[in-house]
Amino acid sequence: MGIGAGAGVAAVGGLALSAQASADGTSASSSSGSDSLGSLAFDPDAYTELTTTVTDTEGTEHSVTYHFWKAITYVAKPVDEKYQSLNVSVPVKIDGTAVDASDAPILFANSVGGYMPSSVADATGVGGPAGGPMGGGGAPGGPSAPTASPSPSASNATGDTNATGGALNTNQLLALAAGYVVVEPGARGRTLKNSAGEYYGVAPAAIVDLKAAVRYVRANKGRIPGDTDRIVSAGTSAGGALSSLLGASGDSPLYAPYLKEIGAADASEAIFATGAWCPITDLEHADGAYEWNWGANATSAGAAVDQSVSKELRAQFAEYQAALKLKGLGGFGTLNARNYDAYLVKQYLEPSATAHLAALSDAARATYLAAHPFITWKNGRASFSWADFLTHVGARKKNVPAFDAFDLSSGENNEFGKGTTLARHFTAYGQKNDTTGLTAKRVDGDIPELLRLMNPMYHLVDKPNAGRSRHWWIRLGTKDSDTSLTVSANIAAAAHGLGDDVNHLYYWDQGHGANTDPGDFIQWIAKVTGRKARRK
Ligand code: DHB
Repeated sequence: MGIGAGAGVAAVGGLALSAQASADGTSASSSSGSDSLGSLAFDPDAYTELTTTVTDTEGTEHSVTYHFWKAITYVAKPVDEKYQSLNVSVPVKIDGTAVDASDAPILFANSVGGYMPSSVADATGVGGPAGGPMGGGGAPGGPSAPTASPSPSASNATGDTNATGGALNTNQLLALAAGYVVVEPGARGRTLKNSAGEYYGVAPAAIVDLKAAVRYVRANKGRIPGDTDRIVSAGTSAGGALSSLLGASGDSPLYAPYLKEIGAADASEAIFATGAWCPITDLEHADGAYEWNWGANATSAGAAVDQSVSKELRAQFAEYQAALKLKGLGGFGTLNARNYDAYLVKQYLEPSATAHLAALSDAARATYLAAHPFITWKNGRASFSWADFLTHVGARKKNVPAFDAFDLSSGENNEFGKGTTLARHFTAYGQKNDTTGLTAKRVDGDIPELLRLMNPMYHLVDKPNAGRSRHWWIRLGTKDSDTSLTVSANIAAAAHGLGDDVNHLYYWDQGHGANTDPGDFIQWIAKVTGRKARRK
């Protein structure tokens, strides 16, 4: 079985089909030397052959036959195999033509959402949980639907469910139909609790698992089809955070003891290129950034948040941003809390609105502009003020503080739980203002290390990491108030400042989890990996 007909993708761009066709369609499998890998040797023969239909971004259907390896445990000493396992999908025939993916780029697509556990063990094919991709579509751009993770548990007090399925699913299907290998890793997540009441999926479990999965793939070079030097990571939201962290922290020695503990393969976990959609990251600075961005916006209940807390947090952002000393893209000077609004407007928001409006018919554009008089449309360009943009976005999604909640109720508090402790503070400010009766004045002693392990900015700014990915695809909806719009922009600015290749766009009027240019992402993979791609 696999995914059903019409597991479709809306028509947005083109689909790049790369495929060096081979005569017999067999994939290369030089499966010698599995001895040294022991239980971590990939069995090239243990696949089932599936055929599915993928609708490309122009609406054309493609029949894709692929080999599917399911629920392969990727560590020698698993804590929970349900999560520490991955699926591999390798196309062998596209539209009747045999393809050889033995040297194709590998899309490494995690399906983490909400820092929750994600398992691929029940999937019946590429791109989705049991039953295939979510209900008939995975249409990009819309609010995304849940995919491969279990429902949030009671501890998920903010209700930030895993809601990232659409974007990921689309990427995986398009990648397969483009002739790429797709690896889908599961990972432990924050709500997992063992019989002793201990949380075993809290930080840094998810990133350690994803790194172990990359190591598994690379250690099996020549057995798993695909070019292990062209691994492209993808993820959305918490999964986007982890994808950007994978990209930034490749081969950092910080993770070595954790990887050893779970019996990860002995191989590099560096990533060639990184795709991150709406990454919810830089968590210890995200409360300040959130108030700088959305502080004046009311919640959906119409209530203004506590303005004295908001103001204090905003001041923290100013200090943090100044310390980063990041230069904006496009020749913009050093970013700070006073010029970041102008930067976002010029570098991202106006170009985003311009692209959106330019793509509309004259009539549709006129209708949109009439309904949104804050936008000036002149010489084919949109312009507006930051203040009007904020009003246009409207209700902020989160309360204050958005991440390190005073009452320890956020998903992120749980992400920094430990042992039998469900949730902890991870900022000095959250700890100081705790309302749960904690007496400690400081965050726990292990928190600073956990923050380094979880924050891509550490690996890009504090300690620029030589093993990082050099190619960055970053996307974010302009109406996404799950975090500050500065979070993605800071990753982009940091990577750009190190000389990396950065492709960062904001999707106009899109909310959390949007992926409205998946065909462009596939083409970008073709470009950065240097693999020939042909449009279809
Ligand atoms: C996600 C969303 C959030 O608002 C958050 O704080 C963490 C994760 C998510 O969709 O993955």
